[in-house]
Amino acid sequence: MPIGERLLTHSTKQQPMAKRPVSRLAQGGAHRQFFLSSPAPALPMRQSKRVSESQHETSELMMPEHANNLGHVFGGVILSMMDKCAAIAALRHSRTNVVTASIDRVDFREPIHLGDLVVMQASVNYVGRSSMEVGVRVEAEDLMTGNRRHTNSCYLTFVAVDRNGRPIEVPELIPETEDELRRAAAAIQRRRRRLEEREAEEQGRNDGV
Ligand SMILES: CC(C)(COP(=O)(O)OP(=O)(O)OC[C@H]1O[C@@H](n2cnc3c(N)ncnc32)[C@H](O)[C@@H]1OP(=O)(O)O)[C@@H](O)C(=O)NCCC(=O)NCCS
Repeated sequence: MPIGERLLTHSTKQQPMAKRPVSRLAQGGAHRQFFLSSPAPALPMRQSKRVSESQHETSELMMPEHANNLGHVFGGVILSMMDKCAAIAALRHSRTNVVTASIDRVDFREPIHLGDLVVMQASVNYVGRSSMEVGVRVEAEDLMTGNRRHTNSCYLTFVAVDRNGRPIEVPELIPETEDELRRAAAAIQRRRRRLEEREAEEQGRNDGV
């Protein structure tokens, strides 16, 4: 029987222990708890975590070993740093093994120089069942002047996996601030676009393109 049909009583008052709350819905602005009419097998509750619980910041001084032939910082150094910084946020959110499933397009808007301090901030924007979109903002600080430039941002998707590499469920995300809610809404659009692109690629492969 669909769970909706089994929701016979609802109340905002304290209920006896035997009646187990199964969901909390906002109706007309008021939160109401719904209770099953008869004992049901315990459903494992999906954990949830705030965005702030997994945010991560890292920084590194750019040294000669980070340079390309022009004396600017090599793009691959920044990509590697972004992957690690974002992975830490995903690991903190899921507290399990994660793999990088995809990295969205990265545009390097301006060069980063040797002697700059590269500062990266990573934040989980959106969580599906097993996947997590993490946004990374990259800034370069001129340590002589304290001036900071936003050099690029990037979105990476991590998937939590079990010991056999199979995707597993991660805690839900609780966006709280206006910025977090805005980022979550934008992440949903990006996820939709990625899925469409993957489906189109899959179709292309099947058609032998
Ligand atoms: C990422 C990986 C675990 C996905 O496995 P899969 O069998 O395709 O998994 P599914 O199709 O069931 O998708 C699982 C989740 O991953 C997401 N996903 C899969 N491929 C993705 C991609 N390319 N980009 C973004 N998300 C992706 C799905 O949307 C789904 O999300 P959800 O659970 O939140 O709804 C698998 O492709 C993998 O192991 N890839 C290699 C990862 C790796 O080695 N990275 C390092 C590269 S050096």
